[in-house]
Amino acid sequence: MMPDILINEVGPRDGLQSQHAAISLDGKLTLIRALIEAGIRSVEAGSFVSPKAVPQMADADQLYPQLPDTDRVQYSALVPNLRGLERAQAARVQEIAVVLSATNTMNKRNINLDLAQTVASCTATVKAARQLSMRAKAYVAVAFECPYEGRVSPDTVLMLAELMMDAGAQEIVIADTIGAANPAQVGPLLGTCIKRYGADRVSAHFHDTRGFALANVWASIEAGVRKFDTSVGGLGGCPFAPGAAGNVATEDVVLMAEQCGFRTGVDIARLREAIKSAELLVGYSLGGRTTRWLNTQFPAAGA
Ligand code: COA
Ligand code: ZN
Repeated sequence: MMPDILINEVGPRDGLQSQHAAISLDGKLTLIRALIEAGIRSVEAGSFVSPKAVPQMADADQLYPQLPDTDRVQYSALVPNLRGLERAQAARVQEIAVVLSATNTMNKRNINLDLAQTVASCTATVKAARQLSMRAKAYVAVAFECPYEGRVSPDTVLMLAELMMDAGAQEIVIADTIGAANPAQVGPLLGTCIKRYGADRVSAHFHDTRGFALANVWASIEAGVRKFDTSVGGLGGCPFAPGAAGNVATEDVVLMAEQCGFRTGVDIARLREAIKSAELLVGYSLGGRTTRWLNTQFPAAGA
């Protein structure tokens, strides 16, 4: 079945990267298997970044060659530079994602380059990936608000997206990295992206810091977006820093989309098994906005 809405599960990367407890390679594989059992067919499984910057992702070189079901499931990996691309190639990754933050300071903090240098680095990385016959997508991060520079102009985001498309990116991901966007901003920006590039080449990434993530997903759906990054149980953020919330929960997006008549191919009952698997890894309870209601629908699993 071709889903109407494609769920790209980013829990194993965006969700796990900030966890304090060390998470084993086997634990990651168990979670990914549970997600596939639930019908997930697109997974961002890790990143090839500096192990000093993000220790939790240090095992990506070992993880990717062991990923299950590679004929049915599309796996992507985040790469910050050409060094990361080399590692991804060695691990037989077929799809990479570069991250271009929309502000100078955010790029400095994230990858130690200014905006112009980041554009140059992402352009080189996307071009090199395409030459290696890898699929390449580009995140435009902090696309609505930057924690250091405040509001971001939609024109800046559109300009950066265009640069990445020119470089050969096959998809852009508009990312509300800190969960500060509202639906009134999301609809017009995503609508413009859809008009320019079409639904196959645009996806959206929201965090739930202010509780608006699902509203932003809906505004995106109305604007024509059909691909979303989500994380199982809303995994992500830092449990010790309440300000930083995780991604929009996979189960919330699946439940809302299905109830609105869109097929996702994801089975909620089985997804709850994947949430349990993620809870075992991180050692605390997970779950999005729909958890309480879902518990009443699946009493045995929710008990
Ligand atoms: N994978 C592994 N190691 C890498 C690497 C990569 N992709 N890129 C650089 N390195 C190593 C260098 O070899 C060097 O190692 P050394 O200290 O043992 O000599 C070290 O990292 C520093 O390299 P340098 O080029 O000076 O980079 P930096 O210190 O300016 O860091 C990044 C730049 C991009 C490597 C680092 O900031 C990073 O990994 N950021 C990613 C953050 C992230 O994941 N954010 C969330 C997702 S957007
Ligand atoms: Zn994110």
